[in-house]
Amino acid sequence: MKLLVLGAGGRLGAALVRGYSRDHDVRGFSHAELDLTDLPRLREALATLDFDLLINCAALTNVDYCESHRAEAFLINAEAPGVLAETCRKKRAKLIHFSTDYVFDGERSTPYREDDAAAPLSVYGESKLGGERAVLDVSEEALVVRVSWVFGPDRPSFVDQVIRRAREHDQVAAVSDKISTPTYTFDIAQSLAATWENGGLLHLANEGACSWQEYAQHALDCCTAGGLKLKSNHVDPLKLRDMTNFMARRPVYTVLSTDRFAQLSGFRPRSWREAVAAYVKDHVAKQ
Ligand SMILES: NC(=O)c1ccc[n+]([C@@H]2O[C@H](COP(=O)([O-])OP(=O)(O)OC[C@H]3O[C@@H](n4cnc5c(N)ncnc54)[C@H](OP(=O)(O)O)[C@@H]3O)[C@@H](O)[C@H]2O)c1
Repeated sequence: MKLLVLGAGGRLGAALVRGYSRDHDVRGFSHAELDLTDLPRLREALATLDFDLLINCAALTNVDYCESHRAEAFLINAEAPGVLAETCRKKRAKLIHFSTDYVFDGERSTPYREDDAAAPLSVYGESKLGGERAVLDVSEEALVVRVSWVFGPDRPSFVDQVIRRAREHDQVAAVSDKISTPTYTFDIAQSLAATWENGGLLHLANEGACSWQEYAQHALDCCTAGGLKLKSNHVDPLKLRDMTNFMARRPVYTVLSTDRFAQLSGFRPRSWREAVAAYVKDHVAKQ
């Protein structure tokens, strides 16, 4: 199959290009190669390309930046995905578009299903919800995949920042009252391929749930078990309300139910604990 991956320079896009290149003819486009803010150019560039499946991992992902750059966030996260959906419909190609757990307000305490009402708290969440709707309004065959707390070797994320801090400082702290599920890009690549013929909304995450503090503590425990020298082995708790540097409001609970994924694929992704342990062993301990 001929695949195009947009956002190929990002954390998830790079992992998908690597993950699918063995079995498919994959072409990745980085931000510099294809800019989603230039919609006429985007239409023109895609019209000349031959592909069966377009996977969009490109997005404006800085939640606090989006809060003060609403127009830019909506252009990249909402309007451009609509253009991708129209292009795919014309070319009879499939579109897979990535979205986020931040479309939810986090008021629940049980995992969110695909048909639960979205009510974003931030401009980032609103713009991503706009993108979901723009895609699904054009095509019911498109697949919109919501993921949470994505980590992987292609771009540093929360877990890498925590490990770096623990290597350099004797104090590490992380928020203990915000809950979701860390999800490994390697596992997203594997799981997605088992369900990508489907359409509509799909939640995809590693299994289980934790706070940022538990996530950080587990990562440090894995580092210690792997023989990595740390200045701090312990993560102190912080409250979300103490994060005064956050511009955007964050939902406190955004665990995604993977029941639909399990029903479609016949399996469940491994637990976030196993995924973090594998990441630390394969990518952090070797550095
Ligand atoms: N990271 C998470 O924890 C998380 C959680 C839930 C959902 N998601 C979703 O998962 C998807 C992938 O995220 P990720 O973690 O891989 O984020 P990422 O590493 O920030 O990747 C996003 C990519 O989009 C590119 N991009 C930004 N503006 C662009 C533009 N105008 N034109 C073309 N490309 C542009 C970025 O390039 P530059 O960096 O060069 O600008 C980057 O390569 C996104 O849809 C995101 O909303 C992520």
